[in-house]
Amino acid sequence: MKKLKYLFLIAQAIFAGTVSAQLYKPSPGIETKVNALLAKMTLDEKIGQLTLYTTDWGSTGPTIREGYKNDIRSGACGNLFNSHTVGFVRDLQKVAVEETRLKIPLLFGYDVIHGYKTIFPIPLGEAASWDLEAIELSARVAALEASAAGLNWTFAPMVDIGRDPRWGRVMEGAGEDTWLGCRIAEARVRGIQGKKIGSTDAMLACVKHYAAYGAATAGRDYNTVDMSERFFREYYLPPYKAAIEAGAATVMTSFNDYDGVPVSGNKYLLTNILRNEWGFKGFVVTDYTTINEMVLHGVVANEKEAGELALNAGVDMDMQGAVFQRFTKQSVKEGKVMRQQIDEAVRRILRLKFELGLFDDPYKFCDENREKATLLSPANRQAAREVSRKSIVLLKNDKNVLPLQRNQRIALIGPLVDNQSELIGNWNGAGNANDCVSLAAGLKGLNIIQAKGCEFEGSDKSGFEAAIAAARSADVVVVAVGEKAMMSGEAASRTDITLPGVQEELILELCKTGKPVVVVLMNGRPLAIPNIAANATAILETWWLGTEAGNAIADVLLGDYNPAGKLPMTFPRSVGQVPIYYNEKSTGRPFDPNSKWTSKYIDEANAPLYPFGFGLSYTTFSYGTPVAKPSYLPGDEKSGTLANPKYPVKVSVDVTNTGKVAGEEVVQLYVRDLVGSVTRPVKELKGFQKVMLQPGETKNLTFTLNEEAFRFYRRNMTFGTEPGEYDIMIGGNSQDVKTVRVRLEK
Ligand code: BGC
Repeated sequence: MKKLKYLFLIAQAIFAGTVSAQLYKPSPGIETKVNALLAKMTLDEKIGQLTLYTTDWGSTGPTIREGYKNDIRSGACGNLFNSHTVGFVRDLQKVAVEETRLKIPLLFGYDVIHGYKTIFPIPLGEAASWDLEAIELSARVAALEASAAGLNWTFAPMVDIGRDPRWGRVMEGAGEDTWLGCRIAEARVRGIQGKKIGSTDAMLACVKHYAAYGAATAGRDYNTVDMSERFFREYYLPPYKAAIEAGAATVMTSFNDYDGVPVSGNKYLLTNILRNEWGFKGFVVTDYTTINEMVLHGVVANEKEAGELALNAGVDMDMQGAVFQRFTKQSVKEGKVMRQQIDEAVRRILRLKFELGLFDDPYKFCDENREKATLLSPANRQAAREVSRKSIVLLKNDKNVLPLQRNQRIALIGPLVDNQSELIGNWNGAGNANDCVSLAAGLKGLNIIQAKGCEFEGSDKSGFEAAIAAARSADVVVVAVGEKAMMSGEAASRTDITLPGVQEELILELCKTGKPVVVVLMNGRPLAIPNIAANATAILETWWLGTEAGNAIADVLLGDYNPAGKLPMTFPRSVGQVPIYYNEKSTGRPFDPNSKWTSKYIDEANAPLYPFGFGLSYTTFSYGTPVAKPSYLPGDEKSGTLANPKYPVKVSVDVTNTGKVAGEEVVQLYVRDLVGSVTRPVKELKGFQKVMLQPGETKNLTFTLNEEAFRFYRRNMTFGTEPGEYDIMIGGNSQDVKTVRVRLEK
């Protein structure tokens, strides 16, 4: 209770500055300033504003190549990334505003993906909290810290839909579901951009990687993406749009091609959809050297042509490739790129530099005292602990082995028990492993016997004997296993998504001792663990939780916090089922165990190991039958829509805590269109509520569904509803649901 109050106070303080977000629009008055500046700029200086370079990593922090410093001085480089800490940023900003002709301040970008110094759970883990306030809080704290360390732009949120756990970057996103992905994208943008762009504690968000980067063929990073426009618009595009509608000021292009055209040269995506359809007014930056890579994609003969293709498609800023810097002047001379095109790109960038307030005070993010007071503050750490425990998913708990009793003798085993560096995960900002609470540290003070057992990788089993002996001497075994941080994330696709090395073997040996075995998973993607699921007594999915990992896991293991997380991505039984996701389309031969000629495998079940939305609690919940009132949505001739948004369907359901302790349940609502003009998914998430229930307590929850919840891309590609019957399904995961049918009328 005390802790809850504390969190409330933290959240109040941290949220004091957020407002409801909306599509970014340049502020009145900015245009005059931008145009006045633009009028003074040479073509070289303009191209400089379209250029972004990285600084390097030295042993004690970021460093900069002398050449880049000269480029800043000459106006050839207008923006930097990977430059952070107040001292370093100030020195570089000084070059820009004191040594250049026009004194245009630099943007400072960085990948602040799940925290800057206080590291929060990896984004996939946070998505498992199904707690939008917690996710927003995490992004807010990240922005508070990063903006205090000199930064004004983060390359986040990453909103790529991930349906293929072979792809290592699923750890950076919100999982497989489009609707949940949209809500989380909005929450993250709100957190990053805070009260408004220009607040000293807000940064520019950069939604990435536009578009469909998560659909890389075979889950191999950077691979080609090919899908129907219908599929693309229905499942992959909405989270980018949601982030933009929540105000994201910048967009990053992705490495892949789409429909045969690499995204950084894809006018359809960058101009037609992004600017013309969605009204995006910010700027577009490429991902790292993606313009240069269009030569290797084989759609242009050389880098000069690549730059022309990119600018004409709608790219504004070249990340690291130096293509614009080297070739664009010539392209302009040859008339391959119009001057107006360059001017427009420069305007988009300058506007945001004005919005940030950098022209009034280029050092506004450079206050050492603020930096010192903000980074890793007790409030930030406490927020990380709260978000971390919300992100944990209980996958199995036979015989209620969890929570542990404080007087039990615990054998603490596995390569991750003492680890700090892997627990802060991939893309860990400026996080320091030494600040991270290991699992052993989190459980300090208990009756513990420790043994490593094995490493992450390799076949060495020499530690098994000591681990088994430790297990035999204990009441309960807690074994912490998983992936190394570099096994997920960018350029870390895997064809085998089981636990690496001999970790699974170690667990199975420990299970043979007959002692209860609690497996604590730490990983960046869904893993295929059917043997562990069959043999372990309990399983906790803890992802990589960040700085407060050990404390948060201890809170859950000891029952100080009752886990309520739910999987944001399906856990397959084997990699052969991949891609696997709950909202698959209906087929003409749905699975029938009694018929060979239906859609299934001959060597594996269709069902996943753990479905989307799945997660247990230390208590149990029961669901009543949902009731829909009215059971139809009346049509509305005048507005031209099929259903009148003024008269939504209200679906209510009783949820009861049938166990012995208080607990939270994520009540999920799914919709199925029974007959459509095109094939429809077997179910689609359209809402959820997270509810706290005392033992024996029943709450009646109501979901309000208006016409929007039933929209899709119809046969003729218009987005809207169709009359007919729909099933509304409610439950605690995507498989166990109770159904009520409603009708949408003409
Ligand atoms: C990644 C981006 C990241 C960029 C800058 C690229 O390799 O794909 O997500 O923002 O590097 O660090």
